[in-house]
Parts: sequence; C-alpha cells; structure tokens
Amino acid sequence: MVNRLNTEEESSFLVLAGGWVLDPGRWDGEADVWIKDGMVEAVVSPDVAPPREAACLDVRGLLVLPGLVDLHVHLREPGFEYKETIATGAAAAVAGGFTSICCMPNTKPVNDEPTVTQLIKRKSGEADRAKVYPIGAITKGSAGRELTDFRALKEAGCVALSDDGRPVMNDEVMRQAMQQASDVELPVIDHCEDLILSGCGCMNEGPVSRVLGIRGIPRGAEFRMIARDIKLAEATGARLHVAHLSTAVGVDLVRQAKAKGLPVTAEVCPHHFTLTDEAVREQGVNAKMNPPLRSERDREALLEGLADGTIDAIATDHAPHAEYEKQWGMDRAPFGIVGLETALALTLRLVEQGVLPLERAVQCLTSKPAGLLGLPGGTLRPGTSADIVLVDRTCEWVVDPEQFLSKGRNTPFAGWPARGRVMMTVVGGRIRYRWPSVA
Ligand code: DOR
Ligand code: ZN
Repeated sequence: MVNRLNTEEESSFLVLAGGWVLDPGRWDGEADVWIKDGMVEAVVSPDVAPPREAACLDVRGLLVLPGLVDLHVHLREPGFEYKETIATGAAAAVAGGFTSICCMPNTKPVNDEPTVTQLIKRKSGEADRAKVYPIGAITKGSAGRELTDFRALKEAGCVALSDDGRPVMNDEVMRQAMQQASDVELPVIDHCEDLILSGCGCMNEGPVSRVLGIRGIPRGAEFRMIARDIKLAEATGARLHVAHLSTAVGVDLVRQAKAKGLPVTAEVCPHHFTLTDEAVREQGVNAKMNPPLRSERDREALLEGLADGTIDAIATDHAPHAEYEKQWGMDRAPFGIVGLETALALTLRLVEQGVLPLERAVQCLTSKPAGLLGLPGGTLRPGTSADIVLVDRTCEWVVDPEQFLSKGRNTPFAGWPARGRVMMTVVGGRIRYRWPSVA
C-alpha cells in the first residue's frame, strides 16, 4: 500500500473545517483548526469565517486530535536496517497517528555517543514523516558498566537516557547514573528487570508457562528493579520514568512513590493492557515480548493505574523483528512486537469498554507523554507546531500486518477487528499520511 501524500492542500494557510476537536484540557467540541505556516494559528468555532486565502479541508465527522506522542519505539537504525529503518519506522508512526516518537538506543552501534544521535537526527529529517527524538544510552554499549557522557548526549539532542532492552544491573552504576542524570536534568527511562530473577525466561511465570513447559519470568524481576530505582530517585532527585509497566505489584510501587511526591512516572503498552499470557498459547512467538504478557489480575491493575493516573502515558514499545527471526521458536526468537499501527485502535477499545473516558485516553497518548519529556507536541495550543491526527472513530477495519508501513509483521493482533482509524496525519502543517481510501 502506497503512502500517498497530497500536496495540493499544502498551502501556507490550511483550515481543517468542521471536525470534532479534542485537545485535552483545552477543547472538546466542533471547531475549525487554522494552520498557518506550519503552526496552529487558532482553534475557532465553525461560525468564524476563515481568511480568504485559506485552503479548506472538510473534516466533518472526524475526530481532530493533537498528533500522538510515543515515548518508546525501537527504530533499529543504525545496524539492524533489515528489521526497520528510521524511514520505515517514521512512516509507520504517522500511519498510526504518531507525529512524535522517541527512539531507544539499542541499535548497532548503540546510541551512546553524539555521532550516533546526530545520524538519527539526520536520517529522520530526511525521512520527513514523524518527528524523531533520540534517547541516549545510560552506559557505553548499554553494557551496564561505564556511564556515557550525559551532557554531550543532551547537547546532541537526546531527550532522555535509557539502556532499554536491558537493565542497569549494578546498583552503584545506576546510582551514579541517576545522580548525573539529575545534574544534567535528563529523565531516566527505566527497563525494570532483574536479570538474575528473569533468567532465561521467555514468558510470564505462572500456570500457563507451566502447562506449556516454557521457562517463566517472575513478576519479582520487575518489582525488584522498580523498588531499587524508586529509592535511587528519592536519594538523587533524578526523574525516573518506568518503561512498559506489566505487573500489579509494579503499579502499586509507582502509586506509593507518587503518593510520597517522588519524581516517578510510568507508561504502559497496549499489548499489556489488552492481552494476558493466555495469548502465548495461540500466538507463540508473536506474544513473546519483554516484559511478558502477565495475568488477568495484572492486566486489571494496569487498567486501574491508567484510569487513576498512576500510569501517566501509553507507549508502544514498537519492536520490529524480521520474520525469520520470529521463526526461531519460543526459546530463541527475539522479544518484541510492533505497535505503532495498532496502538490507537487498542486504546480506543478501552474507551468503548468504558475503562477510560476518551479525553483521558487521548491525554495518555498526547499531552502526558509530551509533558514527561518536555517535548513540544501533544497539544493544539496556538503558536505550536501543527502536529495533528484526524481519526474516524466509526471506521471498522481488520488488522492486516501485510498493510503495515513498518517492516515488522510481528504482531499478535493480526486479524483483530478494530474500530477507529487514522485518516490523516499532519506534521508541521504538512500532510504526512493519508489513509489510501481517502480521496
Ligand atoms: O520486547 C522487547 N523488545 N523488549 C525489550 O526490552 C527490547 C525490545 C527490542 O529491542 O526488541
Ligand atoms: Zn523497549
């Protein structure tokens, strides 16, 4: 499927007319969005006549949201271009409604030096789809031993620090990392896994793993690291953001930390709030990710955490892998599933199920994640970059990995009926994605 871009509306004054604008905390109603020179000029009642020079796009019946912001994406370039490139990842992002994505440093080489950060920025500029914000490694090669130069990474454009994919196992290395991160005012995005406890596990430890005879990853692996790092956040003043929260005990720890006023935030992935480890029975390797899918009780705790604000944001942990790698079997196949092109539909499902109000769901995908890393997007406030997504909430479709713009086809949601689809994505006032059926 070709990602057709329509340039005729790329006038310097564009009006998205008559849609239902939902900008959390700012607007929830019918409105026109005026875009001038790539910026939001105004959000006004449809009664206000647009300027004569404006090109008008009739978006009646569509939901008009700030472009979605994803704090957790694996783009695989440099080094693993056969899985994904910055260009294919950024195209998948806009197809999923994301106008800003933050990419994890576990590439080859690891993004542990300004030269790698600069390469990512150059390639994402060339790709010219979603905005890409690099995340720098905490330790050199993400090997967990020697700290990178945080200040240099920040100056090169890194918006946070993480060794995602791996934890920093050494307590003293992590303490120093959090101290220095606090000094340079960069948040730490924490992959919370105690490798001793997770061992060679491939899925959640529990009744399903025992029946299937697959080695399990206990919840304690997540619990121990979150507990350690909350203490370190308290001691150092560092901003700690817990990545891909998967357990009820983890949600409790974050809730307690917040109650104490500590600078701790958390994200959850759509797969963790949608599926349980039961999915491994049918999906096998396409339900293998780290942290693993947990039990129904954990899933419910994640939903509660989302609803009560303990969990701040929804992030995809988009982790594309090649088809042949996912055929290596449960033991050897790499962890991870793609998420950019299914995240919005899975989140809207929660709204349909009455788990989250629409505004909260949108917040978790826009203003909240943007705020956590101080990114400019996530709002339609006049004077900000016109990063916008148009969604048809009633459109029913079926998830077909062959249609993904990502190179990754590894998803457990193939064949799932979905409701709500991205019709158009605008980045900096320019249409960067348009659903092929839209004329
Ligand atoms: O499922 C995962 N995939 N979890 C991680 O921590 C890493 C990621 C990847 O890079 O594939
Ligand atoms: Zn990840």
